Amino acid sequence: MQIFTFVLMGVLVFFAGNPERTIAADASVHGTFALFEVEPTWTTLSSDEKTKGVQEATALVESFKDRITFDSYWTYGLTTDSHFLIRLQSSEAKINQELLTQLAGTGLGRHLDLEFTISGITKGLNYAPDFPDLLAQLKAAKYEGDPSTYVIMIPTRKSAEWWNLSKEERVALIREHTVPTIAYLKTVKRKLFHATGLADADFITIFETNNLEDFNNLVLALRMVKEDKYNIRLGSPTVLGTLKSWNEVGALLTK
Ligand code: HEM
Repeated sequence: MQIFTFVLMGVLVFFAGNPERTIAADASVHGTFALFEVEPTWTTLSSDEKTKGVQEATALVESFKDRITFDSYWTYGLTTDSHFLIRLQSSEAKINQELLTQLAGTGLGRHLDLEFTISGITKGLNYAPDFPDLLAQLKAAKYEGDPSTYVIMIPTRKSAEWWNLSKEERVALIREHTVPTIAYLKTVKRKLFHATGLADADFITIFETNNLEDFNNLVLALRMVKEDKYNIRLGSPTVLGTLKSWNEVGALLTK
C-alpha cells in the first residue's frame, strides 16, 4: 500500500510540473497566475538594495519548492502594465496564496504591483474520451524542435447557452475544436485549468511555443469552428511573455 501511494504521488508531481504533457492530469492541481508590474520606486534603489530584494524573493520561492511548482515568464514590452508573470501549481490554492502574500513582504515584493491574478484547477478530460480516435492522436503527438521561448495565457468564458447544450452536442463541438489542433502539437504545448465559479472566466488556457506564427494560425483555425460562437470572452487579459527562469527574471530586475 505504501509503495502504491509513493508511486501515485510521484506520478501526480510529474504531471503537475510538466508543461509538456498534452492532456490534462487526472488529479486536481491548483494553478494560480500572478502578473506583476515593478513600481518606479524600484529604480531609485541602490544596486545592493535591489540585489538583496531579489535574494529575499528567491529564498522565499526556494522555501516553497517542495509544495509549489514555480514557473516564471518575462512580459515587459509584450504585455501592457507588467514586467513578469508567475505560475504557481500546488495541491491547494491557499498554498499559492501563502507564497504570494509572503512575497509582498520581501525587499522586491514591496515594489511590486499585482496587476492581475487568476486561479483554476485541472480536471480529467470531459469530452475527449468520447472521441477515442482523436484522443489516440493527442496522446501520440509529441512536441518537436527547439525548447519553447514564448508563453501565452488566455482566460476564456463560455455563454450560458454552451452549458445548457446536451453532453452529446458539446462532445460534437469539442471534437470539431480538436480536429484542426492536432497538427499544432508539434510546436505548441498547452495546459487547461477550469475556473468556473473561482474566477471571472470558465477556463484558463496556457500555451508555450517557439513559433508565434503557428500559434496565431492555430487560434485563427479555432475561431472558425462552431464551438467558438459560445466563447463570450477570450483573453482580457491575454498575456504574452518569454520563458525565463526565476534567476533570469532576478537578473533582469537588478540590471
Ligand atoms: C494544440 C492545440 C490544442 C489542442 C490539441 C486542443 C485540444 C483540446 C481538447 C482535446 C479539448 C477537450 C478536453 C476535454 O476532453 O475535456 C480542449 C478543450 C478546450 N480548449 Fe483546446 N486545444 C488546443 C488549443 C486551444 C486554444 C488555442 C484554445 C483557446 C485559445 C483552446 C481552448 C480550449 C478550451 C477553453 C477548452 C475547454 C472546453 C470545454 O471544456 O468546454 N484550446 N482542447
